[in-house]
Order: sequence, then C-alpha cells, then structure tokens
Amino acid sequence: MKTLLTEEVLREGIRRMAGEIRQHYADRPLTIVGVLIGSVVLLADLIRLLDMPLRVEMVQARNNRKSTRPGPLVIDLGLLGGDVRGRHLLLVDDIFHTGNTLWELIPQLDELGPASIKTAVLLRKQGQSVVPIKPDFVSFDVPDAFVVGYGLDYRDRYRNLPYLAALEAAELGEEPPA
Ligand code: IMP
Ligand code: MG
Repeated sequence: MKTLLTEEVLREGIRRMAGEIRQHYADRPLTIVGVLIGSVVLLADLIRLLDMPLRVEMVQARNNRKSTRPGPLVIDLGLLGGDVRGRHLLLVDDIFHTGNTLWELIPQLDELGPASIKTAVLLRKQGQSVVPIKPDFVSFDVPDAFVVGYGLDYRDRYRNLPYLAALEAAELGEEPPA
C-alpha cells in the first residue's frame, strides 16, 4: 500500500474546497446530502469547516461491485427526512470515478423540487468519466489507481485509515470473470 495523500495534505485540500463552497452558497438555504457510506469521513470534516447555516441529509448508493470493477448501482433515497423543496442541494461523495453514481442520483433528487443541485467530491479519478457531468467542487485529482482510506473501502476494509492510500496490484484480489 502506498500513501497518496497524507492527513495534512487532505486537511488542506478539504479546507480549500470548503472555502469555495462557503463562497458559492453564502447564506442561501443549503442542504448537504452525503452519499453513504464512502462520504462519511469527508462529510464530518467538511461540515465543520462550513461556518454557515446548513442542513445535513443522507442518501445511499451501493455499487454491487465484487472487487474493483464497478457493478450495478442501487440507489436508496429512503433516508431523506426533511423537505428539500426550494433548497440548494450539495451532493457530497468520496470519489468521482465513472461518474455514474452522481449522474443517476441527480435526476432522482431533482424530482423532489430543489432550487439547485451541485456536487462535491474528495477525489476525481483522472480520465475515467463516462458521463456528461463534472463534479462542481473537487478537493484532489488522483491517478487511475484503486484508492482506500478516509472513508473509501476495498471489500469493506480500510475506511478507517486517516490518510489516502493506493493499493498495489498484489493487494487486489482476483477479479471475477467479466
Ligand atoms: P462512480 O459511480 O464510478 O463515479 O464511482 C463512485 C463510487 O465508486 C464511489 O462512491 C466509491 O464508493 C466507489 N469507488 C470508485 N473508485 C474507487 C476507489 O478507487 N476506491 C474505493 N472506492 C471507489
Ligand atoms: Mg460511494
């Protein structure tokens, strides 16, 4: 495992992104919508850097991946509690890889009548997007490696690492047949 972003570097990048978010929304009615599970560490740090009125909600997007290869996506908006009508939604996720998660979440949230929907991610993986949207706020661009830590997992492990690491080929298990 190779460290990609240390705790100090992560903190600085998130602080910068928080400043951009703060400046963009000012005092508009903001609801931060975290995408479970990967976003929880970022979410906890990000909201404490946003000195402004905001609400927090959660949705779940589960990628039924067997390994590092993306699988079918299951989206669950059932955790949304408050009324998001007329509010500015900021979807927060751990990583923008193919973009499919956010691309599928946006129209479903849009049906609930928010004032706007934007997206913020900790990481954007280079050259992997397959959708016609880009994340609005990004803390870091990362190379096309499988990364773990700071909320991101590999087979449910490593979410609790306080830093971001890239797994090496030997650490990635057998890919299931395509
Ligand atoms: P996308 O839908 O392809 O953009 O992928 C987004 C989701 O896939 C993220 O929310 C992560 O849960 C997961 N993911 C993509 N790349 C990685 C990675 O390198 N490490 C861990 N999880 C990843
Ligand atoms: Mg995720």
